[in-house]
Amino acid sequence: MAVTGRAGQLVSALIERGAGHGVEIVPVGRPELDLADAASGMAALAATQPDIIVSAAAYTAVDKAESEPELARAINGVAPGIVAQCAAQLGVPVIHISTDYVFNGTKPTPYVETDPTDPLGVYGSTKLEGERAVAAATPDHAILRTAWVYSPFGGNFLKTMLRLAGDRPKLRVVGDQLVTRHRRLIWPMRCCA
Ligand SMILES: NC(=O)c1ccc[n+]([C@@H]2O[C@H](COP(=O)([O-])OP(=O)(O)OC[C@H]3O[C@@H](n4cnc5c(N)ncnc54)[C@H](OP(=O)(O)O)[C@@H]3O)[C@@H](O)[C@H]2O)c1
Repeated sequence: MAVTGRAGQLVSALIERGAGHGVEIVPVGRPELDLADAASGMAALAATQPDIIVSAAAYTAVDKAESEPELARAINGVAPGIVAQCAAQLGVPVIHISTDYVFNGTKPTPYVETDPTDPLGVYGSTKLEGERAVAAATPDHAILRTAWVYSPFGGNFLKTMLRLAGDRPKLRVVGDQLVTRHRRLIWPMRCCA
């Protein structure tokens, strides 16, 4: 299995889990594959001779994406389609990882696949473009929309809170989002029960 990215949370977790289940996970990332110029990295991806490709890498700096929309679009919007085209040429399926940010976050009940998308920012918009590019490139795809990835690897909200909690007697945290097992509500929330 080839996974895009080198040291991200998801690719690192897959490498760790794969080892314990006899699944060889081959990370394909920079410098061989720079998703800002994905076409030039397809030879490296194809050379791994994968039986499946997981398109996990992304521009994940949600706030920073607002000031770097072209880079975010290249990595999140364009590159997944090129990766999916590579999968199609190799005759293997592609699993593309997307995000709940394709929604506007105001639905008070759990989102389903058929809910209308309405991204509020550059990150969500470009991830939605990436979904569409994957779907256009090959019918042999699955798109997983996930939210708030936590792992022992890299940086994430949970690790930041645990670190700060060890340093400070009291934490002040912005309260503009509520995440449950099924959904993320973005402030102003319609319900918070
Ligand atoms: N983190 C979350 O809370 C969250 C929530 C919802 C959805 N998702 C989605 O879940 C997937 C995995 O997220 P994650 O948490 O594992 O992300 P992450 O820890 O931020 O890692 C991002 C990965 O993308 C790679 N990458 C970024 N720019 C690249 C480029 N130009 N060329 C090649 N690789 C590049 C990074 O490469 P390096 O290894 O070289 O740094 C890294 O491996 C992403 O598609 C993301 O959109 C994440």
